[in-house]
Formats: sequence, structure tokens, C-alpha cells
Amino acid sequence: MGRILLLDDEPDMLENCRRILARSGHECIATTDPAKATEILESKLPDLMITDLRMPDADGLEMMRRAHVLDPARPVIMLTAFATIESAVAAVKAGAFDYLAKPFTMDQLTLAVERALAQRNLMIENRNLRDQLHGVYGFDNIIGGSQSISRVLEMVRKAARSEANILVLGESGTGKELIARAVHANSPRAAGAFVPVDCAALPETLLESELFGHERGAFTGAVASKAGLLEIAGGGTVFLDEIGEMPVGLQAKLLRAIQERDIRRVGGTQQIKIDVRIVSATNRDLRTLIAEGRFREDLFYRIDVIEIPLPPLRDRQGDVALLAQRFLEKFRNQGERTLRGFDPAAIEALEKYHWPGNVRELHNVIERACALAEGALLGISDLPEYIRAFEPSHQAPAQSGAAPSPPGADLSFKEAKARWVEELEAKYLTAILDRYRGNVSQAARAAGVDRTTFHRLLNKHRIR
Ligand SMILES: Nc1ncnc2c1ncn2[C@@H]1O[C@H](COP(=O)(O)OP(=O)(O)OP(=O)(O)O)[C@@H](O)[C@H]1O
Ligand SMILES: [Mg+2]
Repeated sequence: MGRILLLDDEPDMLENCRRILARSGHECIATTDPAKATEILESKLPDLMITDLRMPDADGLEMMRRAHVLDPARPVIMLTAFATIESAVAAVKAGAFDYLAKPFTMDQLTLAVERALAQRNLMIENRNLRDQLHGVYGFDNIIGGSQSISRVLEMVRKAARSEANILVLGESGTGKELIARAVHANSPRAAGAFVPVDCAALPETLLESELFGHERGAFTGAVASKAGLLEIAGGGTVFLDEIGEMPVGLQAKLLRAIQERDIRRVGGTQQIKIDVRIVSATNRDLRTLIAEGRFREDLFYRIDVIEIPLPPLRDRQGDVALLAQRFLEKFRNQGERTLRGFDPAAIEALEKYHWPGNVRELHNVIERACALAEGALLGISDLPEYIRAFEPSHQAPAQSGAAPSPPGADLSFKEAKARWVEELEAKYLTAILDRYRGNVSQAARAAGVDRTTFHRLLNKHRIR
């Protein structure tokens, strides 16, 4: 059974087809108005479109193009007068699934529709099979042999099988989106869509209409009604990226949607059922945002059923070399020459560096180095200066700049204050040294203290 959009300029023709198709159990939306049809394509997401090829104020080919932009697996059947069979054949060449020459019989119509819907199912199945075979978003393309990443992948494998909402946490560039896609591809929803939404990219009202959709006239510029992504992703997964940036007002609306499993479009009155799994990601500390009143605690518990924390690259023993190798394979062919591999000194430098931008930074560094390398091996001189000069003389700046949390109340105020100041000093020094890559003069200048004092502080805290 499918949802079918019918477009023809003859009302009798429409009514006949609609009746025939409804009898075989299909849901038919019929219209003579091409603008209306476009709106239906966007808001009702039909499985199949049947359109007249020649209409006084529309072109069937153009309608087909619109139908395919939104969903390439949506078949289109062209209706055509006998005299224009040649153009119908051309339409099939241009991507129509089939054509029916008027007048056609009931059986011809139902048969064409059944075939088209069967083809659609096949296409969707194939698309998923292909993705799985190539491991496009499976585990094959997640590289890493370290214990910490293996543990994450094991968790992803288990979490994917469930229907629970997942929150992926990690610094920028640690692979949060990659993991979200792997969850989807390995879940029972793999046949459905994976719909990413960047909550940081849009202003509140736009984000709202992206997520929930809107009815025509809901606001200035809403010339047609439109389904929201939560609706479009039916049967699939919605990836809410940078969820920490979602405005509080919208958080309330999202919470309601998750709890009630239905939504109302902006400006709409009808409740629409949704069927999505939510995977969210953030590099923010949501618990802090909750304490600051910038994130709803009740929403947090809804999206954070299973939490997958991604370790920063510097904490993945051995993975830098593995990833670098894989990225080199990707970029090794540079015109005439092919890079054979790494000079060991280059690998050593890469392993020493602290990778604040994580895997994405490594990826970009290797891409650039491959483009610039002259020899057969990628050497240390092909790496950027800040990586060559990096000295891991102090602890990694995982909490760079962040103040330590206050010591417990078991101390006297004086002791607590002293200890806190000590901790703060150590963290501050490490962070600022790190920013200036171990250059004491520069770090001291930036900190606004003279070199001698700076050295004294370093000695006190035994920071090299
Ligand atoms: N384990 C990995 N193996 C291979 N490639 C990876 C891995 N982790 C990340 N990448 C690659 O690094 C880049 C960044 O990954 P991704 O976009 O998933 O990170 P992110 O955590 O979403 O980053 P941001 O917070 O900046 O959005 C992508 O090109 C991704 O393919
Ligand atoms: Mg991302």
C-alpha cells in the first residue's frame, strides 16, 4: 500500500484514477494544481507520483525533477495522450518509471502502480544493502586499535541494537558524527533515513520549523507547508548535533515531542505521529549547562539514556600512527608521485603532539603534508612547525583554562582556599605554557608576569 500523488488538469480523469487506486487500498491525494502538488511533495512525502506530461500551466518533466530532488527513490509515472508517446518515451529516458497512454484501462493503471511501488521498495533495500556492504557508515571506516576506542565501539554495537536515545560526548573532531552514523547503520532502523540537524547553525525560529515543520502562512515567507525533519525521518534516526546550543524554548518543545511521540507543525493544529530514534552529540558539558539553567534537566534524561563518551585522540594509545597511515593512503597519490610511507621521525612527532583538534586535525595535517611533500617518504620537515616544535613537557590541556573544582568542605576555609589557589596556579601554568608550546618567555609575557617569577612558579609546581 502506498501514498500516491496524482496530478492532472482534467478533474474527471483524476477522480477516476483516485477511485480505482483507493479501491486497491492506496492513499491517493489528487490535485489539478501544480503548486499544490509541489506542496504535497514536500509535506506529505508520497511514495509515488503520477502526473500528466502536458498540462496548461505545468510541465510533467519539471514536476518529476522536483519529486526526485526530495527523494531519488520515488518513482514517477507519466500520463500522456496517444499523440505524445514519443515524448513519453523521452520522459522514461529522463528518469520516469513508466508511462500510461490515455485512455488506459483500470488494470493497466493498477499494474503500473504495483510495479512502481515494488521498485521503490527494492531501491530503498538496495541503497541500504549497498551502504552496509561498503561499510560506508559501519564500523569498517572507524579506525583505531586502542583499548579506549575498542571499548567505545563495543558499546556502540550494543547500544545500536536497542531503541534507546543516545548521547555522544567528545571534544571537537573526535568523531561524534561518525559514531552517530555507525549507530544508525547498525540499528534495526538502518533501512530508514539518517537525518542530521545542526542545532548551532540556525536561529531559533528556523530551527523550530526545520525540526517540526510548518503550515502554509504560519509566518511571513511560509508560502507552502512543509514537513519537519522529525516527521521526515520516520522509521529512521535524527542526529541532533551540538544539542547543547539548542535554545531553551525549543528544548521544551523537543521534550514534549519525545515524550508524546507526536508533534504539531508550526502554525498547525493537527497532531502528527513521529517514529524516530534520537542520537544527540555535544562537546559541551551538559551538566554544567543544566546548573547554569541553560539546558533542561528533564530533556537531558530523555536524550541521555545511553551515554557514549569519545576519548580525545591523545588518550588513544597507538591510534595516531594507525590513523595517520590510513589518511596517508587516502592522500598518497599526488600527481606523478606516490608517497611510499612515513619517515619514522615524522610518526614520532605526530605521536608526541597533543592534537587539540583530534582526528579532524590529524586528517587535515596529513592531507596538507601529502600535498607539500617532495620525497618518497613523508618526513618530519613536511609537518607544520608547531607539531615539530611541540614538547609534551607537561600534562595535556584536557581542562585547559578551566578552573579546578573547589576542594571539599572537610577543610577549614583557609586550607581550602590555599589548596584551591595551588591547584589553580598549576592548571593555569600548564594551560598557558601549552598555548605557547612550551616557550617560557612568550607564556610569561602573556601571563603578565616577569620571567623570573614565572620560572619560580614553574619550579614550585615542578613543571618543566
Ligand atoms: N576513528 C576514526 N577513524 C577514521 N576517521 C575518523 C575517526 N574519527 C573521526 N574521523 C574523521 O575525522 C573527521 C571528524 O569527525 P566528526 O565530524 O565525526 O567529528 P565530530 O566529533 O563530529 O567533530 P565536531 O565536534 O567538530 O563536529 C571526519 O572526517 C571523520 O571521518
Ligand atoms: Mg560534528
